[in-house]
Amino acid sequence: MRTQVVIVGSGPSGLLLGQLLAGIGVETVILERSSREHVLSRVRAGVLEQGTVELLEQAGAATRLRAEGLPHAGISLAFDGRLHRIDLAALTGGKRVTVYGQTEVTHDLMDKRDAAGPVTVYGAANVALHDFDGDAPFATYDKGGVTHRIDCDFIAGCDGYHGVSRKSVPEGALKTFERQYPFGWLGVLAEVPPADHELVYANHERGFALCSMRSTHRSRYYVQCPLDDQVEAWSDDRFWDELRRRLPPQTAAAVTTGPSFEKSIASLRSFVAEPLRFGRLFLVGDAAHIVPPTGAKGLNLAASDVRYLFSGLLDFYVEKSRAGIDAYSGKALGRVWKAVRFSWWMTTMLHRFPDTGDFGQRIQEAELDYLVHSQAASTALAENYVGLPY
Ligand code: FAD
Ligand code: DHB
Repeated sequence: MRTQVVIVGSGPSGLLLGQLLAGIGVETVILERSSREHVLSRVRAGVLEQGTVELLEQAGAATRLRAEGLPHAGISLAFDGRLHRIDLAALTGGKRVTVYGQTEVTHDLMDKRDAAGPVTVYGAANVALHDFDGDAPFATYDKGGVTHRIDCDFIAGCDGYHGVSRKSVPEGALKTFERQYPFGWLGVLAEVPPADHELVYANHERGFALCSMRSTHRSRYYVQCPLDDQVEAWSDDRFWDELRRRLPPQTAAAVTTGPSFEKSIASLRSFVAEPLRFGRLFLVGDAAHIVPPTGAKGLNLAASDVRYLFSGLLDFYVEKSRAGIDAYSGKALGRVWKAVRFSWWMTTMLHRFPDTGDFGQRIQEAELDYLVHSQAASTALAENYVGLPY
């Protein structure tokens, strides 16, 4: 079998790239290790930058997002016993973020792809990438007891942190940068109205907490927890009590509790692999970089890589120019590192670290106080949160 671009992974980055390429008549095959149901069962990000929404629109997959997504013009920082609102829209010339779950984004993109007809192979085992340093790359995979081969022009590695694409690059060709944070996030989804109509990021001496949502009747909450905590140790009652303790009294009083229907612990890390291109193989999204979730940047960065790669492939197929694919790695990494910095900074300012102590706590509070009272500092937060320009 032959196609123009083999895409490894049907997460948001692979599906979005596939849809944009379909729009300019470029053929793709997506190879996905898991089942469609498993991909859709993962609960992850919830905040979309305006640029991500526009890209989904360009891909023709934003109808439901426009109808059901919640535009947010601000966020609150909670410390010192009260909320301090950051007016994102006023500080950025009217930009907003949209609250719409990654699961829904993935669902919409899958529906669009299914309707248009390009092939997605779910349950593709042992995907292997070959000869991408030459002009005739190909991918192989196992399914139904048979090994299949797909020849192509390019391979897009959109297969996440644990995928095969980055691991296929010869050792020594990659430089990696990494920081592991000494805590995790315990996340809960519950069918209850959110405590606040906007997101609340709380710094508290007991640890970080975040109030988010998926809709006006579904809440997503997180609390910082020890890395080695087990989900089973967190009953719903224990979770609600701990969350409320870390919030200002008025916000805590507004928390509606109820049974959780998803509860999981995620570790936090910063990771970047450079470069993002090896001959005819490109790394995209989590396959190349991970950010701690505090800045809500993971999914948005995956989308920005897709934007740059799509533009490069458009140059290649339509303009017959290699300039775009040659520029991909440099352009994408420029934006990636700014989001890595922002996510690290938000994480550092809002969490309790083992060595934070009373001194560190006061420094964090001073930084937060400066942040909410200085227009310059608030603007720096706002322009990063809504998404830096491409
Ligand atoms: P992924 O979504 O990881 O998709 C990769 C796909 O490739 C998957 O479907 C996988 O099954 C497939 N795959 C993997 N290996 C292979 C293989 N060998 N062969 C074929 N297919 C393969 N970001 C936020 O902004 N906010 C959050 O709250 C947040 N929470 C998160 C929680 C968790 C547990 C994780 C892991 C991530 C979270 N993120 C969050 C980050 C965000 O979800 C990611 O940045 C986003 O999913 C990246 O999309 P992607 O398409 O690049 O990768
Ligand atoms: C969500 C996750 C985040 O990491 C974040 O910063 C904001 C919202 C969420 O899952 O809703």
